[in-house]
Amino acid sequence: MKRIYLLFLTIISFSALLSSCHEKKTYRIGVSQCSQDDWRAKMNDEINREIMFHPEATVEIRSADDSNEKQISDIRYFKDNGFDIIIAAPNEADAITPIIKEVYESGTPVIIFDRNINGDSYTAYLGVDNFGIGKSAAHYGRHLIGKGGKVIEIYGLAGSTPAKERHDGFIEGATEEGISVIASAYGNWNYDDAASVCDSMFTVCKDIDLIYAHNDRMAIAASEMAKKHGLDIKVIGIDAAPEIGIKAVADSVIDATFLYPTEGYRVIRTALAILKGEPYERVSTFPISSPVDISNADILLLQNESLKEDSAKIKTLKSQVDDFWNKHSAQTSLFYAAIAIVVLLLGVLFLFLRIFWQRQRHQKELMEQNRLLEEQRDTQKALNEQLNVATQSKLIFFTNVSHDLRTPLTLIAEPVEQLVKADNLTPQQHTLVKIAHKNVRILHRLINQILDFRKYENGKLDINLEEVSLKPLLADWADSFLAIARKRDIKLNIAIHLPDNFSIAIDVEKIERVFFNLMSNAFKYTPDNGKIKFSANCDGSEKLVLSVADTGRGIAAEDIDNIFDRFYQVDKIHPNGSGIGLSLAKAFVELHEGSIEVESRLNEGSRFTVKLPIRHVAETRNFTTKKAISGTDVET
Ligand code: FRU
Repeated sequence: MKRIYLLFLTIISFSALLSSCHEKKTYRIGVSQCSQDDWRAKMNDEINREIMFHPEATVEIRSADDSNEKQISDIRYFKDNGFDIIIAAPNEADAITPIIKEVYESGTPVIIFDRNINGDSYTAYLGVDNFGIGKSAAHYGRHLIGKGGKVIEIYGLAGSTPAKERHDGFIEGATEEGISVIASAYGNWNYDDAASVCDSMFTVCKDIDLIYAHNDRMAIAASEMAKKHGLDIKVIGIDAAPEIGIKAVADSVIDATFLYPTEGYRVIRTALAILKGEPYERVSTFPISSPVDISNADILLLQNESLKEDSAKIKTLKSQVDDFWNKHSAQTSLFYAAIAIVVLLLGVLFLFLRIFWQRQRHQKELMEQNRLLEEQRDTQKALNEQLNVATQSKLIFFTNVSHDLRTPLTLIAEPVEQLVKADNLTPQQHTLVKIAHKNVRILHRLINQILDFRKYENGKLDINLEEVSLKPLLADWADSFLAIARKRDIKLNIAIHLPDNFSIAIDVEKIERVFFNLMSNAFKYTPDNGKIKFSANCDGSEKLVLSVADTGRGIAAEDIDNIFDRFYQVDKIHPNGSGIGLSLAKAFVELHEGSIEVESRLNEGSRFTVKLPIRHVAETRNFTTKKAISGTDVET
């Protein structure tokens, strides 16, 4: 899964890489126009047309609608939104200079065009020689009205630089040409203001030869007002935007206009040169051209028409190219996506194949392991069977031998018993007979153990419950270890915490054998000077708990689970005993429906705990019968 995820990531990055090869950086250009009018509409058209040829750039044009505040917020918008370059035609120099300075000093390039700011905190400036235009207008005015003619000047916006320059140029030209400017009024670059000031002026002043308006809109307003007042005044304007100025000349509304180039193309090309680190002119001032009057207005209008047609064609072509390009990029993306999918599929297929191969190899290995295990199991089974057969034969043999030994042993035991009781023996003879008697009893016990074990193996061990008063019995059994404890300096602690009248239904012989087995083991494995503790308690009224604890050599953790197994020898090299004592003890305890457990620590000692249910003969009738039924006396 992890691998598939990795592969998927690789392919995604691969496709992203492929597609990024296609993407170039996009430059964002912000244009802040101070106003919206015919002249700026033409310029904006040029800007939009030029940008079509630069797919690496986008442009957003905002108009301040003659408001300084709006223009400041437009410029701030471009700055705050991370535009790469800002182009601005400042509405009024004093108001707009600070924000331009701020942008420029923050590192964003700024181009100023048409109207200027105070100072030169800009990356580039593109503009027209407004002073020259003013001067040409004065020269042309003199040509229209002759020396000594009287002129009224309709001023643009007071704080915008072209107005000032157009005024200065005209005044210088007028002085040179010998015409006099008798009045100036602010038209603020717009028709309405110009119409209003002209209306008032023409009411009081009728002796006027020429109106010099700083743009065509104001010139048209002046002309219309002159007509209204019945005055025959020559009118010249500036801009020569085809739809307004040139048309006004062609329609004889005004007498002449001076071309004020828009140069939208050039502004965008300069911006891109700056952005791409290519060479550009920091300050470009476009030269003035000859005036547009009735002699050339029609031609210019025609030229403009054909230019418009060409532009429309270019637009169509561009949109076709765009369509084509969009299709092409869609197809290219599709192509890369297809490649990516194919690679992904191949990768997934490869991974699946790998998994499949690995599985197959695994399965083979598993089958081989299985086969080996089965072989081992079969061998083990055969060995077990052989072992079982051998064990059984051994047991049968021992049982038979034990049977054979029991009769003569009983015959020996009887006279020895009598001899022990005889009182006419010398002390030495008595000691010897006691030794013989003791060993006859040991032999007897061992033979019984073998015979019981055989019964247990055949599931024919029976139980004979009888109600006994256990306390004296336990004390008696425990006492028989006092002598050996004394002899070996073993501290034997006998703690029988049972009520005096405590009685329980048990198979006395078997529990005695369990007791002797546990105690003998404790003595067998506890070194001289060690400690052995036997205790008997009632765990509530339900269980009798017998425990034998020693400070002997203990049992290793790996042996502890097996010590109740038959024939199990902790020390395999030096076996100690037959290995059936504990196994038989467990069988006897379980026959009583009790449990036997051991806790031990190597070299610290062991504790065997036997728990027997406290029952009484009356309630164990069924139990006794049941166990007795299963046990017959067949011993081989
Ligand atoms: C357009 C305009 C033109 C004029 C120029 C001066 O907004 O008023 O008519 O020539 O601005 O900046």
